[in-house]
Amino acid sequence: MEIRRVGVVGLGTMGAGIAQISVQSGFDTVGREVSDELAERGHATIERYLARGVEKGRLSETDRDAAVGRMTLTTDLADLADCDLVIEAVLEELDLKRELFAELDRITRPDAILATNTSALSVSDIAEATDRPERVVGMHFFNPAPVLPLVEIVRGRESSDDAVDAAYRWAEQAGKQPVRCNDTPGFIVNRILIPLLNDCVRVLDEAEVTPEEMDKAMTNGAGWPLGPCALIDLIGVDVHVHASEALHGKLGEKRIAPPDRLVRMQQDGALGRKSGRGFYDY
Ligand SMILES: NC(=O)c1ccc[n+]([C@@H]2O[C@H](COP(=O)([O-])OP(=O)(O)OC[C@H]3O[C@@H](n4cnc5c(N)ncnc54)[C@H](O)[C@@H]3O)[C@@H](O)[C@H]2O)c1
Repeated sequence: MEIRRVGVVGLGTMGAGIAQISVQSGFDTVGREVSDELAERGHATIERYLARGVEKGRLSETDRDAAVGRMTLTTDLADLADCDLVIEAVLEELDLKRELFAELDRITRPDAILATNTSALSVSDIAEATDRPERVVGMHFFNPAPVLPLVEIVRGRESSDDAVDAAYRWAEQAGKQPVRCNDTPGFIVNRILIPLLNDCVRVLDEAEVTPEEMDKAMTNGAGWPLGPCALIDLIGVDVHVHASEALHGKLGEKRIAPPDRLVRMQQDGALGRKSGRGFYDY
């Protein structure tokens, strides 16, 4: 099926980025927020990033105006009725997502694809809330969505090949680098990266190295573009601890659980870049 019109539910950090990708790639896009104020805030974020693209010479003013013109805002989910693809990016709560998918199932055409950007929940558990689990997939973008190319296209238990392929093709048309995978905890990147980052934090104390030394070691010895401590500061210590707890809850492996040092940092409000201090001061 051809995707022409896209809906994005939730214009927070991820949703605003996904909506921006969509309009910039030429798709008419309806963004839904819970209030006019939040919708305006999401829209302002999209406009700000598009303006930055113009400043940096990546986007012409004409293309920017055309992209902004493709974006419609609403607080009414019913306005997503004509969408061929709806990407959900609301809070990471299973009941909330299930409720939303049940409503989207009633509102949208039966062949529309419903995608979730969940990081840690099961796509299949969300799909079960609908009468069309074969049209439900995961589309896991990475933060910041307009910058990081990867999108994990997640096959739920009952996702059809047609829905998975259509989501994959859309991601390619939107300039992304999609990869298909099964609906397993952490999908691909987080399953590997979360325990790996937690190991790095444990090594800080075991080997008595500073964050600077750890980052120097991993950038120079393993070729990482960014050291693990700088990366956790960028992700946000609270976000990383939460993701570790969620993945640990599903897989039970000790090394996935957040190290005490990170939990203490979270309790002290040292959350990384966003709080002005984490492993480093900002
Ligand atoms: N932030 C990341 O690094 C990242 C990366 C990949 C995936 N994700 C996933 O993306 C999703 C959104 O995360 P985010 O970081 O953009 O969150 P956010 O807090 O920035 O935005 C949350 C959104 O949920 C909406 N919302 C809150 N309560 C709602 C309700 N009752 N009904 C409908 N909408 C409601 C908000 O209005 C907002 O648009 C989550 O599932 C998260 O796991 C996040």
